[in-house]
Amino acid sequence: MRTTTLMLPLYVGMIGTPILLVLRLFAILYSPLLAYPLTVLAAIGFIAFGAAGFVEVFVHDYPKSMRLRIARSKGPAAAERKEANSVRITFRLRRFDEGKKQLVEEAYVHNVDELTTVLGALVDIKEKHDNTLSMRYSCRMGICGSCGMVVNGKPSLACETNVLEHARKGDIVVEPMQGHPLLKDLATDFDDFFEKHMSVQPRLYRIDAKEQYAAKKEYHQTREEVDRFLPYSYCIMCGLCEDACPVVNTNPNFKGPQALAQEYRYYADSRDQLGKKRLLDADRLDGVWGCEFAGACSKVCPKGVDPAAAIQLLKTELMSNTTAEEREPARHST
Ligand code: SF4
Ligand code: FES
Repeated sequence: MRTTTLMLPLYVGMIGTPILLVLRLFAILYSPLLAYPLTVLAAIGFIAFGAAGFVEVFVHDYPKSMRLRIARSKGPAAAERKEANSVRITFRLRRFDEGKKQLVEEAYVHNVDELTTVLGALVDIKEKHDNTLSMRYSCRMGICGSCGMVVNGKPSLACETNVLEHARKGDIVVEPMQGHPLLKDLATDFDDFFEKHMSVQPRLYRIDAKEQYAAKKEYHQTREEVDRFLPYSYCIMCGLCEDACPVVNTNPNFKGPQALAQEYRYYADSRDQLGKKRLLDADRLDGVWGCEFAGACSKVCPKGVDPAAAIQLLKTELMSNTTAEEREPARHST
């Protein structure tokens, strides 16, 4: 049992009161002179016992347990832990200045803990230091592909990048992706990227137009058929692969790893009927032949899509399943 200063009168009352009451009984029977003071002492003991019990239960214990319960529900313990574990990090943000048309570095010192992501810190910086800071994000869980930016030189999803794991000597550098036109601060323009994506007809294509929109049956696939395209279907269109690609960064017309990986994804799907047309569409200098197989796209992909492999597979399929005559016109029609 817990011992507090309030427990002393409680114990005295608990033990003393019954003793005094028994003594009083004896006093009434054998010594009436002692009965009166013993009655007073028993009454005092009884009141002290009751008061101490009341204070202990209703003033001390109950409010404390209630306070604890409320505190736990609001999470101040977590807040205290967070405060105790927080680390000061300098965020060097290279923000695109629309007026000057260049990146301008600004530093913000901000406290983070072991769970803080770059996106979480940027949102805090926007709230607490500079509400003009612009960046794009949505899901905050690596699903929507909106929060791509360059962290310490590597294209990354800000919501999946832990600050403390990437900070170097208390510093972290965040800048916009530069394989895409810059809009403001850390936000970039994805119009070109989506145009390239749409150019590969990223959907299952059926030759019969009626069937395309009103299929009368399910298209069953074997495990092997699914495995051919599945790894390439995890793309969330974050654009990191484009940013990392040295060819995209020097030749804006290059179709790019994301679009080409999707070309392969649909080509490899047994339900799609564009077949050779997909291969011939990729058969250009700005298509698969533009790829120099640097492999940077696959290294940065947060979903393990491996666009570099998809491009090589497209090349192999192209050379094995089309003739030189079929390939010639496509090459000159860019
Ligand atoms: S292939 Fe990977 S890196 Fe490229 S857009 Fe898709 S998810 Fe992002
Ligand atoms: S906010 Fe959606 S992927 Fe980062």
